[in-house]
Amino acid sequence: MIFTSTKSASLASSFLSEKVFFFSLSYLLPYLYAIMLSLQPSTSITRFSSFSQLYHRRRHSISPPPAPHLPLTRRTPLRHRLQIRALDAAQPFDYETQISDRFAQSTKLKIAIVGFGNFGQFLAKTLVSQGHTVLAHSRSNHSQIAQQLGVSFFSNPHDLCEEHPEVMLLCTSIISTENVLRSLPLQRLKRSTLFVDVLSVKEFPKNLFIQILPGDFDILCTHPMFGPESGKDSWLGLPFVYDKVRVGNEESRAIRIERFLEIFEREGCRMVEMSCAEHDKYAAGSQFITHTMGRVLEKLRLDTTPINTKGYETLLNLVENTASDSFDLYYGLFMYNKNAMEQLERLDLAFESLKKELFGHLHDVCRKQLFGKAEGMDVLEDQRVLSKLPQNGAALPAPSDTVRAENN
Ligand SMILES: *[C@@H]1O[C@H](CO)[C@@H](O)[C@H](O)[C@H]1NC(C)=O
Repeated sequence: MIFTSTKSASLASSFLSEKVFFFSLSYLLPYLYAIMLSLQPSTSITRFSSFSQLYHRRRHSISPPPAPHLPLTRRTPLRHRLQIRALDAAQPFDYETQISDRFAQSTKLKIAIVGFGNFGQFLAKTLVSQGHTVLAHSRSNHSQIAQQLGVSFFSNPHDLCEEHPEVMLLCTSIISTENVLRSLPLQRLKRSTLFVDVLSVKEFPKNLFIQILPGDFDILCTHPMFGPESGKDSWLGLPFVYDKVRVGNEESRAIRIERFLEIFEREGCRMVEMSCAEHDKYAAGSQFITHTMGRVLEKLRLDTTPINTKGYETLLNLVENTASDSFDLYYGLFMYNKNAMEQLERLDLAFESLKKELFGHLHDVCRKQLFGKAEGMDVLEDQRVLSKLPQNGAALPAPSDTVRAENN
């Protein structure tokens, strides 16, 4: 500016006499300077506001043009005008959020967990993370951990039932289930309530529910085949067994049970629909055997060695996994599954039969050494093949029969 004014001054000097020029310049300079200073910000405001106006019109063609009475002069406060446009632009976004919120609300359930121990807390984490409203009741005071998980804790079962949850999710231990169920004030619940259990045996809670619950209540028996240990990172691909034991005719009841199952579907569980009786048969031959072997090995106090094989590492893992479950659970698997006793007996027989084969083989080797080749070799060959017990459910031959059959 100073450069321009001196330049114009030198130009002017060629036309005007020195005296006149210096007088006029010294007289006008402060005014010129003041005008140029005040013009500088005003032009930038005008340019910016017209640009933002254009920008907003192009971006949001549906937003109305600025009101004609709004003066676009440099005195209009910039912040005020921008605020109006921002509100205008935010409205559709807000609207969509509200709609999606309302939609999400309708797919969420109010679930009351009864028995807030290890497993109840484990399930609660996922239920809360999926946006369901979770309540809990337990005989022990777990209010602190409930608060940390975002769960409302009720020490009194009456208070819990008066909250009218849509789903009552029993996470009790097998052996306490009957007492807990009988102590619940069922009359305080809504007439349409869904009862769900997650016990590791299925026929027992199914019969208990049918016996104790009013006919209006829906019943879903489930068994998530995983726990806080095996499902701590993800439930992806883990089996979830369920049996829709009783669902009322109303559409809302069918939808409610589907929504509950969706919780596990969404986590990637392998959903297996199966009758409670079938489950118990499979579980006795797999889960109960696993727990039993884990506990037998635990009694051996296996220790890690510098030369662990992969197989041995598997055994150590098995001990670790089964030892983290309570003895009550193991006892429940045995006591409340009618197929478990047969499996325990089969285990016993299998061990006896294995020992007999080993000792029988040893006996023959000793005899051969003592009496030379007087006796035939074919008997020995036959006994090398270890005999196998019949499959689940087949009649159990006496171990002596097995050995005799092999010898024939
Ligand atoms: C449960 O424990 C919390 C603190 O952890 C306490 O404030 C509350 O009074 C207890 N409730 C009962 C019924 O004992």
